[in-house]
Amino acid sequence: MLFPDYRGRRLRQNPMFRRMVAETRLTADDLILPLFAVGGKNVKNPIPSMPDHFQLSTDHLVKVAREAKDLGIPGVILFGIPEQKDPLGTRAYARDGIVQKAAKEIKNKVPDIAVITDVCLCQYTDHGHCGFVDKGVVDNDATLDLLAKTALSHAEAGADMVAPSDMMDGRVTVIREALDERGFENTPIMSYAAKYCSAYYGPFREAAHSAPKFGDRRTYQMDPANVREAIREAVMDTEEGADIIMVKPALAYLDIICRLRDEIDLPIAAYNVSGEYAMIRAAEKMKWINGADVMMETLTAIKRAGADMILTYFALDAARHLREHQ
Ligand code: PBG
Ligand code: ZN
Repeated sequence: MLFPDYRGRRLRQNPMFRRMVAETRLTADDLILPLFAVGGKNVKNPIPSMPDHFQLSTDHLVKVAREAKDLGIPGVILFGIPEQKDPLGTRAYARDGIVQKAAKEIKNKVPDIAVITDVCLCQYTDHGHCGFVDKGVVDNDATLDLLAKTALSHAEAGADMVAPSDMMDGRVTVIREALDERGFENTPIMSYAAKYCSAYYGPFREAAHSAPKFGDRRTYQMDPANVREAIREAVMDTEEGADIIMVKPALAYLDIICRLRDEIDLPIAAYNVSGEYAMIRAAEKMKWINGADVMMETLTAIKRAGADMILTYFALDAARHLREHQ
């Protein structure tokens, strides 16, 4: 059909028609809020590169979790910042670790929000790598047991879902086994399946004190140049028993989300990471863009690409915006 028979503008002429034909709709149901947990009481340390985000003690985490729930957000994901670090990251799987305590408390006080826990070692190891380091090399197989212990300790503390972000081979298998063995066969695994070695994680590493002390993460996180490899990773995690497949970061990787949507049957999560958040907030502060509009456009684009859910530092703002504009 050609002009003048076809006129694309016919269905754009008023808000009613536009609503009828909108192909993608963002709702609070799509959002997951990342939170940074620290010890102590009444602690609320600002994170300079992530405006409106803080390292929070458990009392504050409970308040924010309640606020998220009241805005219709179904889940939060917890990252812990421990008081001590050591070569084995032992505070990652301590019964009284920071994430374990926070998960327990949030579930006690706000049972109706899903608590997802990030499973990794980099915040807990003194060298800042996501695994056990032997002679300067991250040892894949020696790391697996530590990750399984970490995931299990989270489930025991009450976490509703665990999310391994380390990119070690085989971790979904060992985590699934460890959970099943202890009666947590109903605890889902959200696997950071295609996690790229990205410069967009900068603000997060400042927030979580998790930058590697030597080298980089290129031997375990993926090369931004690759797409077929993302499919292999996602297929492998699916076969190992993952319940949700994550792509991270989101914005520079919309093609990966789109490809995995076609290739994989599981729900897909996209992580709209710290650097993506920081860029928008910085440009907004400079009055170079309209921050709220760019936020909504960005989240809609991630969903349009095929994500079923979005982990985003915009979760509260976006949920508020949706409430006010619907
Ligand atoms: C740690 C982890 C990182 C993020 C989530 N989990 C950082 C990294 O891999 O260095 C990044 C999240 C963000 O940037 O918002 N494994
Ligand atoms: Zn890590």
